[in-house]
Amino acid sequence: MADAARELIQYARRDASEPQRFTAYAPSNIALAKYWGKRDTILNLPCNSSLSISLGTWGTETTIEPAERDEVILNGETLAIDTAFVRKTLAFADLFRGANKTPLHISTVNTVPTAAGLASSASGFAALTKALCGTFALDLTEIEMSLIARLGSGSAARSFWHGFVKWNVGEAEDGNDSRGVPLGIEWPEFRIAILHVDSSQKKVSSRDGMNHTVETSPLFKAWPALAERDCSTIEKAIKDRDFQTVGETAEANALAMHATMQAARPSFSYLTSRTWGVLERLWQAREEGLHAYATMDAGPNVKLLFLADEAGNVLDTFSDAQVISPWVNA
Ligand code: PMV
Repeated sequence: MADAARELIQYARRDASEPQRFTAYAPSNIALAKYWGKRDTILNLPCNSSLSISLGTWGTETTIEPAERDEVILNGETLAIDTAFVRKTLAFADLFRGANKTPLHISTVNTVPTAAGLASSASGFAALTKALCGTFALDLTEIEMSLIARLGSGSAARSFWHGFVKWNVGEAEDGNDSRGVPLGIEWPEFRIAILHVDSSQKKVSSRDGMNHTVETSPLFKAWPALAERDCSTIEKAIKDRDFQTVGETAEANALAMHATMQAARPSFSYLTSRTWGVLERLWQAREEGLHAYATMDAGPNVKLLFLADEAGNVLDTFSDAQVISPWVNA
């Protein structure tokens, strides 16, 4: 089971005082080099390293306080106790609250649409981990919290910092070296734009999509080595402030990830005809000189990557784009 994480929590719990009200925020993140495929489905250990950029004020704020009975609230709405969201949230809280299962009131507010491929599970589990640590007064570092949050959602391991974060694939069987590490590089001109193609709930969860791809896609065999290489290329290009290499590699990496799904048997896709329409418009604009690149996750929405001086041109091409500055208000 989740040994490394449990040991960490138990160690930090030694002097735990009475649970207290605590609020925590975590930014969402978009992978420039994607995590796709698990080598351990219980510990959420990836087949490859990944690298992301955080989304500033787009994320999750979670408040936890001791209560009479368990209650889970999402965006102001109290959820029925048997919903998947509540089950996952409480199962995760069980890692922290020990045998006496202190009843908790857990309120989550997402500033990104839930389950629309905008990685709200990443900020969700990161904020939940931080809030649980605060509630139970656990003294854990961000890197330690990243390791624990990974058990809830892999991409959450990258949501403890603003800016660029690498999730190292790791080697340890218990996963204790598979967690986020901030690159510690500021690139204030770096921008992300969200193009909303569809904000409805996705039909295939990333967990099911990954497992099905690993089990059935003949193209998946090529993925871990390719993804590892792309991750290193992007890390170096960020250090060199080489935006073109970051953008080109990130777009190619996302399309390769989606190709592994198309080759799964049976095939499935998060990308819709509207996603492809946006990509065609982008590629046309790029031929005409626009310096912007695309990436897509487990949903149909497109995220554009560009530098601040292209913001006007991006908005001329995509007037509905919502531009995010990862380092502003971070
Ligand atoms: O952490 P999960 O289970 O939400 O999976 C995230 C998968 C992708 O968003 C497609 C890629 C990534 O690295 O974030």
